[in-house]
Amino acid sequence: MPARPPDADPVDPADTIGVGDEIEVPTVRLVAGGDALARTDDGRVVLVEGALPGERILAEVTGVRPRLLRARLLDVVEPAADRVEPSCPELARGCGGCDLAHAAPAAQPELKAEVVRDSLRRIARLDDVEVLAGHPLPSAGYRTTVRAAVRDTHAGFRSRRSHDVVVVGGCEVAHPLAAELLVDGVFDGVDEVVVRVGARTGERMVVAHPTAAGVSVPADVRVVGTDELRRGRRAWIHEEVAGHRFRISADSFFQARPDGAEALVSAVRGALGDPGPDAEFVDLYGGVGLFSVALGSAAPVLVERSAAAVADARVNLEDRRARLLKMSVRRWRPTPCDVLVADPARAGLGSEGVAAVAGSGAARVALVSCDPAALARDAASIVGLGYRLLGVELVDLFPQTHHVEAVSAFELLEPTRRAVSV
Ligand SMILES: C[S@@+](CC[C@H](N)C(=O)[O-])C[C@H]1O[C@@H](n2cnc3c(N)ncnc32)[C@H](O)[C@@H]1O
Repeated sequence: MPARPPDADPVDPADTIGVGDEIEVPTVRLVAGGDALARTDDGRVVLVEGALPGERILAEVTGVRPRLLRARLLDVVEPAADRVEPSCPELARGCGGCDLAHAAPAAQPELKAEVVRDSLRRIARLDDVEVLAGHPLPSAGYRTTVRAAVRDTHAGFRSRRSHDVVVVGGCEVAHPLAAELLVDGVFDGVDEVVVRVGARTGERMVVAHPTAAGVSVPADVRVVGTDELRRGRRAWIHEEVAGHRFRISADSFFQARPDGAEALVSAVRGALGDPGPDAEFVDLYGGVGLFSVALGSAAPVLVERSAAAVADARVNLEDRRARLLKMSVRRWRPTPCDVLVADPARAGLGSEGVAAVAGSGAARVALVSCDPAALARDAASIVGLGYRLLGVELVDLFPQTHHVEAVSAFELLEPTRRAVSV
């Protein structure tokens, strides 16, 4: 082979490692999504599923891009102190439901806090924000809403490595009332099923897609098909949070555990500086009214685009002078208020949500985020419009998984200005 001329382009490092190669690398930290970030000797980033920070691992490369490798964990050469053997037997059978079960539950909130700090540093350039990991919530039997796929009339979860459905003989994170339906239910003619239970009311519901005709579950369970919901049928259960009873319809969002909902309410209350009932309160992306109800607002303004959720909110807030606006936040004309909570879907506020938040001129804002990258983008935008980020408190609603909720507290720097122009 001829020698490379001295002025030839440097060798592209991506050429030196290929798919199928085995590499031994140290892991540095978790990233949003739950993978561990490791670095090769020449400094390239490797994302590895199933590893923890502070380990030395052997992994097989599964994807090569110019600046990023993906790899599959083969062996943990030096384990992190927080590594544990997952207790759920379904994981060994390939269930992809709990992607952080290899970390000790007590260590998970801090691992997630580090992911949030890193997102704020890298994406928002906010370096010294206090991010509290929050108090751990029970890591088993907690989940009151569970979405499952169906194979051969039985419920299961997608495999970690493919789209195959692993039919499960149990689920450690599902609330026992939900786990029983997942394991014993028969779902003939169903592709996907959502099991919802009220942990504190004992009420249960199964929502089957595309139809519920072939569903067989105990007689106490309300059963409804998405075809029936489309034709206008209503079905709901109730749950209790912070001493309040909530109606939750089949297609309304509700937090997936009542103790977690209480932790969120408490974090939002703190972020808003403990507003009294008479504070002008706006609840953006308000759902069935969790924050409006539980924070005790006398006359909340709730903005929500789901008709089912607004109908529930009307019932849940019937003892208040609430203004319920069934519309997209994009179309809301901000009204001035003292305090505002915004709890958007995974994509975050985006420009329209940020404009709505800032347009209200709220002196205090609580932003509830379920994606660290979206949180960082939104925080940067809100800070850019004249707010100070006071701190972030995490609520670990979903132990054993990489998911986390973050409540960020913002304060308007010039509170006399009632509406911030955007
Ligand atoms: C994460 S949930 C939060 C609901 C409520 N805050 C709670 O804690 O139960 C987000 C809610 O925002 C609603 N939503 C999503 N996009 C919206 C939009 N552009 N405008 C208004 N509501 C929206 C969804 O229907 C859902 O009810």
